[in-house]
Amino acid sequence: MTRTVHTCGKLYLAGEYAVLTAGQPALLAPIPIGMTATIDWAEAFALRSDLFDYGVDLTPDSNYALIQETIALFEAYLGQPLHPFALTITSQMARDGRKLGIGSSGAVVLLALRAMAELYALDLSADQLFRLAAAVLLKRGDNGSLGDLACIAYGDWVYYQSFDRQQVADWLTHQPLAEVLSADWGYVIKPMNLALTVDFLVGWTGQPAISSDLVNQVKSAITPDFLAASRSTVDGLYQALTAGDKIGVMTLLAQAGQLLSALHPAIVTPALERLCQATTGLSAVAKSSGAGGGDCGIALVFDETDSQTLIDRWEEQGIQLIYKERFDE
Ligand code: PMV
Ligand code: MG
Repeated sequence: MTRTVHTCGKLYLAGEYAVLTAGQPALLAPIPIGMTATIDWAEAFALRSDLFDYGVDLTPDSNYALIQETIALFEAYLGQPLHPFALTITSQMARDGRKLGIGSSGAVVLLALRAMAELYALDLSADQLFRLAAAVLLKRGDNGSLGDLACIAYGDWVYYQSFDRQQVADWLTHQPLAEVLSADWGYVIKPMNLALTVDFLVGWTGQPAISSDLVNQVKSAITPDFLAASRSTVDGLYQALTAGDKIGVMTLLAQAGQLLSALHPAIVTPALERLCQATTGLSAVAKSSGAGGGDCGIALVFDETDSQTLIDRWEEQGIQLIYKERFDE
């Protein structure tokens, strides 16, 4: 019997770059533009992703490395050799061959884990999925905060406080996997409910950016002052969103955006600048999302007519609306 599983995509709301430092918070939102997989037992391993025009088995292949390493980790987690299966992945996270920048690498790891868990009839919690996916990425030397995994594993709006990834990566090389998976890593993942009536909009610049390159470019600019300001902005924004404080949300989200544009000129590109400027005069606030340098920006809009105005302005500016969701308190 073929089983089908899904994952969502994610967008950073606030806390980018700061969250790379252990203990710093960020807020993330899920969007239902993600990936789907089908999986079934097979005679031999057969992996296929619609991002590539060929499939593979478990023979190492650079395009399929992320999936193959996820399979190897799952096998180590099970503690027994896997039976062969066919895994087919389709992604909605790209347009015309360009990635949208909504978390495809984290999504593919979580998707493969969900698919294998389904096949083996294992009921993995969101937290277990987060840890397993984090172990895959840490073993690869990923330089991100793993906030994307937290959001996609929980499939919810989350407050995420990062952990010391270097320490867990060291544990993974020296200690049995089961021990590492049950240790205290020191992160916080808190699902959150918005207590506001608001439209959440995602605009795409059409310019793909590589987060790990931006992180390498920007990281030396991160100062203790930036971290302190980011923490109080994110904590305040969490309070405002969950308490329904519209003015607080507008002020703090704008502040989160300004912190990023002041951090490094590579973050807010001219297209992202236009995306933000388009809210002028509207009951709305927008900022770049994630590493910046292209990809997406987000907006919160407090008036339905203003949402349409913003979408029209974005279109004039070459910004494509890829997602819109209305929250009703
Ligand atoms: O561009 P994205 O969505 O991959 O976000 C990157 C966010 C950073 O804080 C810059 C890096 C990270 O992994 O947290
Ligand atoms: Mg990005």
